[in-house]
Amino acid sequence: MDTKAPETERNTAVADSPFNGLIGEEYAMLRLICPPAAEMSRQVGDFLKRWQGGIRHSGVPLRVLEIGCGTGITTLALLSARDDQVITAVDIAPAMLAQARQQLAPWLKEGRVRLVESDALSFLAQWGDDSVDVVASGYAFHNFQQSYRREVLAEVFRVLKPGGVFVNGDRYALDDTLQHLQVIQDEVRHFFATFIKLGRLDLLEQWIVHLFSDESPDHVMPLGSALQSYHEAGFSPVSVHERCRNNALVSAEKPCQ
Ligand SMILES: C[S@@+](CC[C@H](N)C(=O)[O-])C[C@H]1O[C@@H](n2cnc3c(N)ncnc32)[C@H](O)[C@@H]1O
Repeated sequence: MDTKAPETERNTAVADSPFNGLIGEEYAMLRLICPPAAEMSRQVGDFLKRWQGGIRHSGVPLRVLEIGCGTGITTLALLSARDDQVITAVDIAPAMLAQARQQLAPWLKEGRVRLVESDALSFLAQWGDDSVDVVASGYAFHNFQQSYRREVLAEVFRVLKPGGVFVNGDRYALDDTLQHLQVIQDEVRHFFATFIKLGRLDLLEQWIVHLFSDESPDHVMPLGSALQSYHEAGFSPVSVHERCRNNALVSAEKPCQ
């Protein structure tokens, strides 16, 4: 993965993803129906700005991987955070990457970011042990099935250098299932209010269907069990920096040996 690469690389067949359809084409709608998503992206960037960890060699840029970059909202927050980094960002959905290519054009040209079309697990498999300073992600891991998420997490741990960090701003379900249900019911009401006002019942249908997937037992990502899985993967310390309803910013360090 170290060789100079074209702006977008492709290394797997494209999986069926809701982000290749209407949701992906009109992804900017997420700002209206779920303002915390953009806030989580901003916080991932802020975290990287503050981050002093890792073992640094002067003049060598941080090697940062971003998982599920989508249209580049979190990528932009990372790029604005600091200059001493090179980002390789992966996403499975071509419709999202097409928007990222436009949004990130100046940084792609400068070689500060590369985009890879792949699923996260195949992408990570191409990186060596202890080869990456930071793995960052915004609002992507909650889309993964739990078994896949566990495999991705193990790979994130493997590729990180000792002292490196995984930072994720995401939907982390409330551990109290009744409180969580109430938060989701509020989200559903907000989806209806927003899309009915816009006359976009087509998008309402797609986002409600997607919400059912996010909240299904094999996808939902409660904060408590997520933190436990980070510890089980070997990360320490694991820290929750922000918690707002069903959103959280979490960092997990790979211990120095
Ligand atoms: C809700 S979007 C978030 C996009 C972006 N990180 C942001 O902050 O707006 C989730 C993204 O994860 C991507 N994704 C879902 N499953 C994936 C997988 N297995 N491998 C790579 N990307 C995946 C989707 O295509 C989508 O672009």
